[in-house]
Amino acid sequence: MNETSPSQLPESVDVLIIGAGAAGLMCAATAGQRGRSVLVLDHANKVGKKILMSGGGRCNFTNLYTAPENFYSENPHFCKSALARYTQWDFIALVEKHGIPYHEKTLGQLFCDNKSKDVVDLLLAECRAAKAQVRTRCSIQSIEPLQQGYLVDTSLGRVACESLVIATGGLSIPTMGATGFGYEVARQFGLSIIPTRAALVPFTQHRRQLERQQDLPGSALAVTASCGEGSFNEQMLFTHRGLSGPAVLQISSHWREGQAVEFDLAPGRDLGDWLLQRRAENPDSHLHSVLAEIWSKKLVQYFLQRQGIDSRALKQYGESELATIGTKLQTWQLVPAGTEGYRTAEVTLGGVDTDAISSRTMECKTQPGLYFVGEVLDVTGWLGGYNFQWAWASGHAAGEVA
Ligand code: FDA
Repeated sequence: MNETSPSQLPESVDVLIIGAGAAGLMCAATAGQRGRSVLVLDHANKVGKKILMSGGGRCNFTNLYTAPENFYSENPHFCKSALARYTQWDFIALVEKHGIPYHEKTLGQLFCDNKSKDVVDLLLAECRAAKAQVRTRCSIQSIEPLQQGYLVDTSLGRVACESLVIATGGLSIPTMGATGFGYEVARQFGLSIIPTRAALVPFTQHRRQLERQQDLPGSALAVTASCGEGSFNEQMLFTHRGLSGPAVLQISSHWREGQAVEFDLAPGRDLGDWLLQRRAENPDSHLHSVLAEIWSKKLVQYFLQRQGIDSRALKQYGESELATIGTKLQTWQLVPAGTEGYRTAEVTLGGVDTDAISSRTMECKTQPGLYFVGEVLDVTGWLGGYNFQWAWASGHAAGEVA
């Protein structure tokens, strides 16, 4: 297999996969292992670019606790079959087979000890063993349905195939090669698209708010972020543009323009009760120094200032006054100006409507031989390795039958 060979493409293959990312490469290896002749085409200059940049360079490749509840879709049942038939344990076994060292960071999130490239190398080795060919720098010009199969016109020549798998991902990070190609193919064959939206994405804030927070970029704290039906207990990070960190990325998948997000800034405790308890223990200590036990000094100053609260010795506050101060400090309701959009979003919510897709095989019900796998479908995971697990599971499901 040659990843970058400029040579002509084969005239026909059993399975043609467009998109050499996580789902496409998994599909290629699986189909190749069944003895199918497989060709994967990608327009980028190298394969698996998102894998390479994922998990801060260490690829959070799956999550120990993956379950259908960790995914968003108009049809929440759609992901169940594929996730049950290719589980996190299957991918972990593959990682171990290739001797890739890994660790659990937090909340079941498994990361490579070394670098994300280990996962790309794993996928390419599996493709090589299964004799699946992978070609990069190849743009797709048209797809024509034949009586049986498809004829695909590309910048490297024409290929006929029996099965055509669309694995071109979502819209996030266009500079990494993301395109809306998969949605165009879906439309060509009369499938509907669930409206797409940037998700797992930082919030932006209005300029006036940012000015008030000018000392805070880099400050982080544990919060519970809630919006609509979503609620996540993780870290939040102040940035120069607004707010980020896992809690914010997670809740961004629930947020709609104009909605307020509620942050509990001291999760797991009642701040009013806690302040009263601290007053009983140490009445002479000042409010700001007590609060510095749970927040950084910069955050304490900002949160007090935001609520117009003067810091005095705890004994100088009445009981109900201190309880009210606790409540005011604990809750922060904020309407973000927006999000950073697809430029920095980790994933795309929405996509090819799963109504028209078989949940067992990923084949289009109305267009035999056409498959959609990975993020291009209307299945989006939480932050934490779930999106790759969906790519592995859906790619594997199609690879078993395509
Ligand atoms: P993917 O995007 O991986 O692959 C699509 C492929 O199709 C690309 O190679 C692209 O070049 C190609 N393509 C697109 N248009 C084409 C066209 N017109 N013609 C030919 N080829 C085309 N998830 C997770 O579980 N753990 C993590 O740690 C992270 N971290 C992370 C960090 C960052 C910065 C981002 C942006 C995303 C993540 N993710 C993640 C999400 C994860 O990367 C994503 O969900 C999967 O890569 C989706 O796999 P797919 O194979 O569906 O698409």
